[in-house]
Amino acid sequence: MESLKRLLSINALNMSQKISYPAAERNKTPILEVLKKHLKNVEGDVLEISSGTGQHAAFFARHFPKLTFQPSEYDTSLFPSIKAYAEEVPTKNVKDPIYVNAADDWKSLGVSNRFDYVINVNMIHVSPLPCTTGLFKNVGEILKPGGLMITYGAYANNGIIEPQSNIDFDKEIRKRNPEFGIRDIQDLIKLGKNYGIELSSTYEMPANNKCLVWTKNVTNQPQ
Ligand SMILES: C[S@@+](CC[C@H](N)C(=O)[O-])C[C@H]1O[C@@H](n2cnc3c(N)ncnc32)[C@H](O)[C@@H]1O
Repeated sequence: MESLKRLLSINALNMSQKISYPAAERNKTPILEVLKKHLKNVEGDVLEISSGTGQHAAFFARHFPKLTFQPSEYDTSLFPSIKAYAEEVPTKNVKDPIYVNAADDWKSLGVSNRFDYVINVNMIHVSPLPCTTGLFKNVGEILKPGGLMITYGAYANNGIIEPQSNIDFDKEIRKRNPEFGIRDIQDLIKLGKNYGIELSSTYEMPANNKCLVWTKNVTNQPQ
């Protein structure tokens, strides 16, 4: 009886610790469809940068039971939510979250260079530019040659943000923080070239978002 009570209180605790972002609930299935096209379900390691609540890592992991998912967050107050979602994954392939500031040197934070895939959802435009620069620089170091980075969000292209709803969204996030803002795919392509990362596929996603698939070149050299 005592152990049942303890179990029930732990579950209640986990439920209360799970935070749900409506956007993550909406976009997780369309993003999964892209991942299914690119991720091989063979043993390997996936690093998620800016895991937020942990909804994505837990949802994706159960579809790729042979891959091990490493969530990470800058905001450590989200760790309990990330852990609570991870504990519910039947395939048990989500690790405890680690602290990663995208703008820092990840190796000094203990991130190894063994990753096959990096996933980054809705961070590039909702964080200061050094986070994006850091993302590409670090991914150039920690992703295995031939490995993939999948980024999702709203992007401009050739200096144009469209449609109007994305222009309004850009204004809104810049009002929240002048260092935020929708980034241009062409600038990201240039940035990636410095670190041996090439844009290999682009997917149009619901609500005027895009999924970009980036490939780390096999020679491990900047292009
Ligand atoms: C809009 S939320 C997206 C969260 C999650 N990926 C999702 O889609 O639900 C933006 C995330 O970027 C994270 N973030 C902000 N600054 C960061 C930084 N310097 N390094 C890494 N992540 C950062 C925030 O903590 C937050 O979780």
